[in-house]
Amino acid sequence: MDRGRRTAALAFALALGSLAASSGPPLAEMRWLAPGADPVAALGWQPSECLPAMRGGSPEAAQAVYVGRVAFRSPLLLGGQAARAGISCETCHRNGRDNPGFLFPGASGAPGTADVTSSLFSSHRGNGVDDPRPIPDLGGPRAMLKVDHDPASRALETFIHGLITEEFDGPEPTPAVLSGLAAYVRALDPAACGPAMPLRADDYLGDAISGVIAADGALQAGDRGTALVMVAAARTRLGRLDERFAGLPRSLAGLRRANAGLVRLEARIRAGDPRARGAISGWIRSAEALSPVLRRDEPRSLFSAEGLAAHAPLPPKGP
Ligand code: HEC
Repeated sequence: MDRGRRTAALAFALALGSLAASSGPPLAEMRWLAPGADPVAALGWQPSECLPAMRGGSPEAAQAVYVGRVAFRSPLLLGGQAARAGISCETCHRNGRDNPGFLFPGASGAPGTADVTSSLFSSHRGNGVDDPRPIPDLGGPRAMLKVDHDPASRALETFIHGLITEEFDGPEPTPAVLSGLAAYVRALDPAACGPAMPLRADDYLGDAISGVIAADGALQAGDRGTALVMVAAARTRLGRLDERFAGLPRSLAGLRRANAGLVRLEARIRAGDPRARGAISGWIRSAEALSPVLRRDEPRSLFSAEGLAAHAPLPPKGP
């Protein structure tokens, strides 16, 4: 490990330490916000996802994109340091796009770049040199992308498998999760991009519900491993909501009940309990009933511009 690397690793350890001591910023995402980046624009808005409505395909193809979309947003997919810090594919590729405000603490490189061969994340591939690259927009023009998207080549599957297991030291993904991620990335289409939109509590709640619906699809296919990954992803989305609703007891109580329901669901899936699928529809109904509760508290939460602006970092020092 060279000196730069050691400093980066130290900064990373400090970032994780502050998380454990909960003395860090209130939102995990604030830890990789470039100094001077506007927290309202970076954390209160989201780029358009460029995911076209799925029409005419087979249900299996739709389920693959669905599973991939959920996995893309789950830090647990990446394992190790990245998972502990709360980093998912979507941290860098926001809504499948790029992230101009991304700056990893301690890692050198301009905002919007990342070094995915960094030994911060990996015990396999750390190459000992800083080579941060611009985070590519996966919903941008295909001509700008380097990895072959043709399903026949399976280049995308190979690339994503390497990212998860080698760059990030993540656990071996289930076959459905890997092919789902590739299907999701392939489905992103520049022709389906729209304007940036405000990020809403309903977006994260919808992601959690998507995770549970994807888990149901996986259980239907007898794939308990993928179902567990999907439920875990849903829980991490509830965790993001929990951060944003700090200090708002009604919403927090509802979120914690929803999380407890998922913990019970996980136990049932793990035990092979045939009642797991029945429990899913009940959970989805109660999660949907949580939406108006969150919406009522949203103006006072860290989804609101006022709430986020209160956490604006100091502007960079002038000359
Ligand atoms: C820490 C930030 C970061 C994370 C997390 C991350 N990526 Fe990336 N991704 C990058 C960067 C930077 C590149 C460009 C690498 C290069 O140019 O060598 C890239 C490249 C890619 C590409 C290739 C695009 C092309 O040019 O064809 C794909 C596909 C991709 N990432 C998907 C994913 C998926 C799926 C995940 C989650 C398993 C993920 N990324 C997680 C930063 C990240």
